[in-house]
Amino acid sequence: MSKNNKIKKRYDRIAPVYDSLEVLMEKGKMGSWRQNLWQKVSRKIDQSELNRSEIKLLEAGVGSGKNIEYYPSQIEIFAIDFSPKMLKEAEKKAKQYNKEVNLLEMDIQNLDFKDNYFDLIVTSCVFCSVPDPVKGLKELKRVLKEVGRIIMLEHMRSQNELVGKFMDWFNWVSLYTWGANINRKTVENIEKAGLELVEVNDLMSDIVKEIELKK
Ligand SMILES: C[S@@+](CC[C@H](N)C(=O)[O-])C[C@H]1O[C@@H](n2cnc3c(N)ncnc32)[C@H](O)[C@@H]1O
Repeated sequence: MSKNNKIKKRYDRIAPVYDSLEVLMEKGKMGSWRQNLWQKVSRKIDQSELNRSEIKLLEAGVGSGKNIEYYPSQIEIFAIDFSPKMLKEAEKKAKQYNKEVNLLEMDIQNLDFKDNYFDLIVTSCVFCSVPDPVKGLKELKRVLKEVGRIIMLEHMRSQNELVGKFMDWFNWVSLYTWGANINRKTVENIEKAGLELVEVNDLMSDIVKEIELKK
């Protein structure tokens, strides 16, 4: 089985129980990090010279749709994932929160969108599991407008030697159960993809970061 299919199947397998497994994390810090992420997105929309109805936003790796309740109104939103079962969960959230969103089964590493299409792209906890993260980041760069921004909430390998090694040793546990790596060097991957760091805020040590990127 290809690496892509393996990760997709792991997310399909965990989709029905995904939210209940993460409930404590969401009630803790993760919930407020998400809120801050979407407040930042809303500020970008308010500052834009475009009318709201002209603004196109992509959520890449929507998962079970935990961000859907925070989606801003009156803009055009696309949300993609390569796991059909995660998308089913996201569909339920869109109904629950009465949000208009185009939910599509699609691979971040091979996006079916034109070049320079999106004003905003949002990811949360996604680049730990995209099988080829640099390829995925290059695709986000391709579909982002020249003046667009990518806003991310991502966890990654610590640069502390001991903590980083610990994350390397235990990576197999989360990779096997979830399909997520805890030791991805996401900032390095961003630079390899040719994206520019605009702002990096450490939220939990140097492991969880809110990141703003441009082309
Ligand atoms: C850890 S979950 C996070 C989901 C959501 N963003 C959140 O904050 O709860 C990662 C998601 O990324 C998706 N994903 C990973 N690699 C992908 C790819 N290459 N293309 C599309 N989706 C991908 C997985 O299927 C999964 O739903």
